[in-house]
Amino acid sequence: ARLRRILSLDDLETAARRFLPRPIFGYVSGAAETGASLRGDREAFDEWSFVPRVLNDVSKRTTETTLFGKRYTVPFGIAPMGISALVAYRGDLVLAEAARDANMPMIVSGSSLTRMEEIAATYPGAWFQAYVPGEPARIDALLERVAAAGFGTLVVTVDVSVSANRETNIRTGFSTPLRPSLRLAYDGLIRPRWTVGTFLRTLTHGIPHFENSQATRGAPIIAKNVMRDFGARDHLNWTHLAQIRRRWPGTLVVKGILDARDATLAADHGADGIIVSNHGGRQLDGAIAPLRALESIAQHSGGVKVMLDGGIRRGSDVLKALALGAEFVFVGRPFLYAAALGGTCGVNHAIDILKQEVRRNLGLVGVSSPGEITHDALARSAC
Ligand code: FNR
Repeated sequence: ARLRRILSLDDLETAARRFLPRPIFGYVSGAAETGASLRGDREAFDEWSFVPRVLNDVSKRTTETTLFGKRYTVPFGIAPMGISALVAYRGDLVLAEAARDANMPMIVSGSSLTRMEEIAATYPGAWFQAYVPGEPARIDALLERVAAAGFGTLVVTVDVSVSANRETNIRTGFSTPLRPSLRLAYDGLIRPRWTVGTFLRTLTHGIPHFENSQATRGAPIIAKNVMRDFGARDHLNWTHLAQIRRRWPGTLVVKGILDARDATLAADHGADGIIVSNHGGRQLDGAIAPLRALESIAQHSGGVKVMLDGGIRRGSDVLKALALGAEFVFVGRPFLYAAALGGTCGVNHAIDILKQEVRRNLGLVGVSSPGEITHDALARSAC
């Protein structure tokens, strides 16, 4: 019933701010340092306006989009988000179920708290995102596990060479390892619906573990050495991507590209696709907005599929990204808020809102399918 008041993806953030304890909401909504990249991700969409065409029969509109040879119902998917199962009860499975039912991709996070095998059993079409371990033997072991679980698409996130500075987490008391404190207990008490419905219910299954950072089960979220689970990553380079390409038989996507030269390198190293992304403003503060980087990357993509995430909240945002050269987009935070607020029904509702916006705006722009929209549909907004 509460979902009826959610009319847009932005409404989800407003509702989640009231529903989630401050540290949890801060973890999801937050960004690195000043939040400049987070704001830039959104502002970049306002820099473009539509130039609609009229009297083009748009009665046979479809939102269907083909990607890597598969037909999806919508041109957007769910971005990987770590620790989702602590934000929403059964969070990873809820996102997977909703994506499966909507026939759209969902990317399982490498720092998720649900076994990848269980998520793949729920939605065999899900993709898996890996935080590449530092040592070659551990890379191979992880890839073997991902392949054995049945995933066909591997997403390698490359914008995490060192861990980011997210001051919000320190201010609100959110950390990995999660440290119990009076402050956390107080925040939980004033948000009893989340505390009982998500936190305590989750604990009935035991202490959550990082289930997918290793070839085997990783560390519990409260362990002192939990970050060791992910290993040192600052030495990772293109030879590691080459190693992954040799070992991974499926579709390979590199996530976190912002420079056209890196797009070319990814193509040269055998990637099938890239996601232009600044990690939702959560890594390098001041990193360029993906939408601003998109055009030049799309021109030098060397044949790889170009996708984008960051700041997509409206069907019109989806269409602007497609017009500037993306073939597909991903959405993060709003779907996690939807999972926290309303479980699978909540995510179904959020997907439907975005789908209807895409469908409506295709018609208003004057095209019949996502693939038809081109740069001609846009003009720079006056400043
Ligand atoms: C993320 N993101 C992310 N990316 C990734 O590759 N692996 C991960 O484990 C995570 N974890 C994660 C947790 C949370 C709570 C958020 C909000 C984000 C980044 C994510 O995949 C995506 O790039 C951005 O969230 C997209 O921006 P929007 O749609 O949230 O603005």
